[in-house]
Amino acid sequence: MTIASLAREELKGLKPYEAAAQVDGAVRLNANEAHWNTTNGFRRPLNRYPEVRPAGVRRALAERYGCDDRELLVTRGSSEAIDLLIRAFCRPGMDNIVTPAPTFSMYRHYARVQGAEIREVATNRQNDFAVDASAILAACDDDTKLVFLCSPNNPTGTSIHTTEIRKILEGRAGKSAVVVDEAYIEFSGHASAVSMLREFDNLVVLRTLSKALAFAGARCGSVIGPAEVTALIRHRAAGGSGIAQCDSGSLCPRDAGRGVRGGCAFRSASRRGRRSGERGDE
Ligand SMILES: Cc1ncc(COP(=O)(O)O)c(C=O)c1O
Repeated sequence: MTIASLAREELKGLKPYEAAAQVDGAVRLNANEAHWNTTNGFRRPLNRYPEVRPAGVRRALAERYGCDDRELLVTRGSSEAIDLLIRAFCRPGMDNIVTPAPTFSMYRHYARVQGAEIREVATNRQNDFAVDASAILAACDDDTKLVFLCSPNNPTGTSIHTTEIRKILEGRAGKSAVVVDEAYIEFSGHASAVSMLREFDNLVVLRTLSKALAFAGARCGSVIGPAEVTALIRHRAAGGSGIAQCDSGSLCPRDAGRGVRGGCAFRSASRRGRRSGERGDE
């Protein structure tokens, strides 16, 4: 049994939507595209639908993050990945997600859209907003399908200790997917949870090019996890991220984190925000 078997029953047998085949140089009546191009100023003609799941981009990102390309799905920012995971795993009115609080507000938002219960486990300033694995596990029950752990966390900047992540993965083995959102990992100097993929089949990692790489306009997120999970959500995702218009060469691993100084810019900015009473993006 893999963690994909916890997905909503009605999705498991659903036949994936087959996008029209992309044949170079042809008038693609099969896709009902216009065959004339009114966007001459662009590098690629925009009368064409983009490649649905650009293989070159997926390979470049898999290399960058250190996983097999079957374990990676490119999404429209990691925001779409959060939505897809909640929709794939949570039955409305029945299932729940568990998160530490405060944390990124999109987990709560998409859970509400799906009609899933949100269980928040408070962290506190006195303890530097540290996440306690036993408190997270105590909040879970048989209907907990997803645990979201944001590390470093938005808005507190706190990274979750690998030992705590491991305890949660072990405690929820076969019961929940544990999603580690690493949108800000490049600022932290900590190792990615991707290195634990071989050990835990309930681990899913989210990465994005939006933050440290200053590439938010490309809307390019990644879901990294067991191939059965990426296949399951690939079949539900609308195709064609903005990244399909980019060159996979522009995702060269050597560019990682350029412009990130000392790893603490995000942490101190979010601390300042909290001290002055501003809300982070929570
Ligand atoms: C913790 C966290 N995860 C994910 C995202 C989504 O980023 P994107 O959709 O640009 O990949 C954000 C954006 O602010 C974030 O703060």
